[in-house]
Amino acid sequence: MSNSNQPECHFSLVLISLLSCTTNQARLTVSPSSSQFFIRDFVSLSCEEDDSSAGWTLRRNTSKQQRTQCGDGWGEAAGSSCNISYIYTSDSGVYWCESREGPISNMVNLTVTGGSVILQSPVLPVMEGDDVTLLCKTKTTPSNLPAAFYKDGSLIRKQPTGHMTIQHVSRSDEGLYKCDISGHGESPSSWITVTVIRLVCHLVVFCPYFISTLLSVSLYQHRANGNDPTVILATAANAEQRMCEDYDDIAAVTSEHQF
Ligand SMILES: *[C@@H]1O[C@H](CO)[C@@H](O)[C@H](O)[C@H]1NC(C)=O
Ligand SMILES: *[C@@H]1O[C@H](CO)[C@@H](O)[C@H](O)[C@H]1NC(C)=O
Ligand SMILES: *[C@@H]1O[C@H](CO)[C@@H](O)[C@H](O)[C@H]1NC(C)=O
Repeated sequence: MSNSNQPECHFSLVLISLLSCTTNQARLTVSPSSSQFFIRDFVSLSCEEDDSSAGWTLRRNTSKQQRTQCGDGWGEAAGSSCNISYIYTSDSGVYWCESREGPISNMVNLTVTGGSVILQSPVLPVMEGDDVTLLCKTKTTPSNLPAAFYKDGSLIRKQPTGHMTIQHVSRSDEGLYKCDISGHGESPSSWITVTVIRLVCHLVVFCPYFISTLLSVSLYQHRANGNDPTVILATAANAEQRMCEDYDDIAAVTSEHQF
């Protein structure tokens, strides 16, 4: 192999490492996209993944029961999705997707209120620098009413339109939010989580050993028997994927907004 090929080989391996460490991961999504609901609302949850063969199940913890599966006394399961036709206050809790092999997805807190005001905030962690819109809604009034927004118990803004945008969120915007509509009442509180992602850090933190090993192994094999480089790359990627699965719990925290 000529020396000029080596940088490309390194680059491919790094890219494959990055992809294999981050794509084998389910993502729980909620539709409509909200972490607060009124009783009797319809909610659809689904476990999404690039490689759909893994067989994910949706589970939840509520104040009454732990680790129950969709279809097991709550929800209607079909494939990797789960619908709750009439959500109730007892459906409030933490939801996540779990595969038989162990890895779990992001977790989502759902809060169901018997009251008449909800705060619609992002269900998934938001990425630092993004704009975030919060909407304060009543059960009975279709148009938006003036609302007051609170963070960690303190009033932050009064908005005549009932919605508020936080521009370029940073870690300091993380916290417990709620809203209030005069004459209608107060919403429950929900957490807004802000994540900071740096691709290079992610790679360095989770896979440094595998990458250096694979680089030396593949370059050694390459020199030793002049194998087809694509075969080596594919083998390396498989090995890497197996090793990286052990890190899925940690990677789950940071993989949401990878690309
Ligand atoms: C759900 O409940 C189980 C059993 O109490 C506990 O071990 C687990 O950590 C809980 N999971 C979440 C996401 O809260
Ligand atoms: C859940 O609802 C969605 C949208 O209404 C529908 O496409 C899907 O088939 C439903 N799934 C189940 C399990 O009923
Ligand atoms: C869910 O809610 C609990 C308590 O309110 C909070 O500690 C936790 O961070 C929340 N988890 C997520 C994923 O928002």
